[in-house]
Amino acid sequence: MSRLLPFSIFPPQASTLAPRTDHLLFYLLAMSGLMSVLIAALIFYFSVRYRRRPGNERATQVDGSNRLEIAWSVVPLVIFLFTYVWGANVFFFAYTPPPDALELYGVGKQWMWKFQHLSGQREINELHVPVGRNVKVIFTSEDVLHDLFIPAFRVKADAVPGRYSAIWFNATRVGEYHLFCAEYCGTNHSGMIGTVYVMQPNDYQTWLSSAANASLSTTTGVSSLRTQGEHLFTQLSCATCHVSDGSGKGPSLVGVYGSKITLADGSTVNADEDYLRESILNSQRRTVAGYQQIMPTFQGIVTEEDLASLIEYIKSTQPAPKQVAAAEAK
Ligand code: CUA
Repeated sequence: MSRLLPFSIFPPQASTLAPRTDHLLFYLLAMSGLMSVLIAALIFYFSVRYRRRPGNERATQVDGSNRLEIAWSVVPLVIFLFTYVWGANVFFFAYTPPPDALELYGVGKQWMWKFQHLSGQREINELHVPVGRNVKVIFTSEDVLHDLFIPAFRVKADAVPGRYSAIWFNATRVGEYHLFCAEYCGTNHSGMIGTVYVMQPNDYQTWLSSAANASLSTTTGVSSLRTQGEHLFTQLSCATCHVSDGSGKGPSLVGVYGSKITLADGSTVNADEDYLRESILNSQRRTVAGYQQIMPTFQGIVTEEDLASLIEYIKSTQPAPKQVAAAEAK
């Protein structure tokens, strides 16, 4: 990364969000700068023009001007609305992960970032992603508040214990970028950093298969998150109650991901990753209507990695006609 200056004021623009964020920032800076200069110049001009002079001791009263009133009401209104619409536009872009995004899971803990790819590879303080692909990172914290921040992508979100957060990006430039924790989280907060490797799709595939052989995942061998989840689903006897045809003591989980769930109190909830996670750990909190609160908590029994794999398995189960995953909940 060669630059003219020995330092850089702005981090590189390496995602589709980066130029959008920067344009908005530059516009806001320009507007603020313009207003500051305008006000300063007017103060100077008026203090000279209307200074106290002999024979000019009393001001002339102005009895209002509709034109002026309308102008200084409407012009700022238009400017602020324009700013609002632009800002909202960038905001919605930044916080709406495209449905086709490549997903992966992350966990922040004192003091490291752990990532887990759907195909099972794990990494610590490193994150390998392909260039030109929508990528969504679903993450949480194992202990205290952390904050996942990738300046070059202009993405940043808190890792909150007990629930999932998500960021998404589409990296536009191959390279290595900083990854930070941006929330003070204890003694080694400053060391909770890492590198994002943006790779050509081919290199990324190569990395995935070589990482599959790496020692990080020896405990389970590298099997996909979904397969790991399927094993756990059996091991933890989830299928005893969550029978796929819905005849069990718990609701069928086939195709549950992304659906609208009616709760016991009549309200509805979107069955996203966060709801599935909460239901595994604490099903009593938002129980599905028509079912008894008999599911035990799995808090302390399953790890964050287990949760990610269980959720991926549940996501993979689809109603019969689609035959997407052909995964039987047995
Ligand atoms: Cu984790 Cu600061």
